[in-house]
Amino acid sequence: MRPEVLFTSEEIKREVARLAHEISRDYRGRSPLLVGILKGSFVFLADLIRMMDIPVEVDFVILSSYGSGTESSGEVKVIHGLEQSIEGKDVIIVEDIVDSGITLSHFMDDLSTRNPASLRLCVLVDKTARREKDIQIDYMGMQVHDEFVVGYGIDCDEQYRYLPDICQVKD
Ligand code: IMP
Ligand code: MG
Repeated sequence: MRPEVLFTSEEIKREVARLAHEISRDYRGRSPLLVGILKGSFVFLADLIRMMDIPVEVDFVILSSYGSGTESSGEVKVIHGLEQSIEGKDVIIVEDIVDSGITLSHFMDDLSTRNPASLRLCVLVDKTARREKDIQIDYMGMQVHDEFVVGYGIDCDEQYRYLPDICQVKD
């Protein structure tokens, strides 16, 4: 497989700065808990919080929906859950990419039963072609159709996370 650049690191930086600005503006005076979904969101979350100008807390979960390869298995497993209660907190889920929406709709349903003060979703890449679950993305970076993307933390079978650009992999 060979990666081909879709979004350069400069373009990504501009989008992340815009998202950081929107979140900072909307949560001014509050200190939201950002919940990153590992592993794909770790680069995005690290950049996002450093471009925000409000205090935040950070936690991570590990969910699994893809076994390996490029197709969703339709199964969602919580491999590592939250380390704290979210009751009364302003929670923002931070995800690298939404495809079918199955992973996030399961996870958001679960979190919404735990009485957060608010629950919003921030996604770097919205992949629109194969959406199965209708989910509201409150803060959205860029859109792709059905390209399989890697880089900037996003992998294909654990490869390519280190790439600074977001690239498409083709067979
Ligand atoms: P969904 O449940 O189908 O929305 O799948 C979401 C998860 O699948 C994301 O958190 C990603 O980890 C992974 N995923 C979806 N599309 C891609 C892609 O193009 N590249 C790498 N991972 C992807
Ligand atoms: Mg993911």
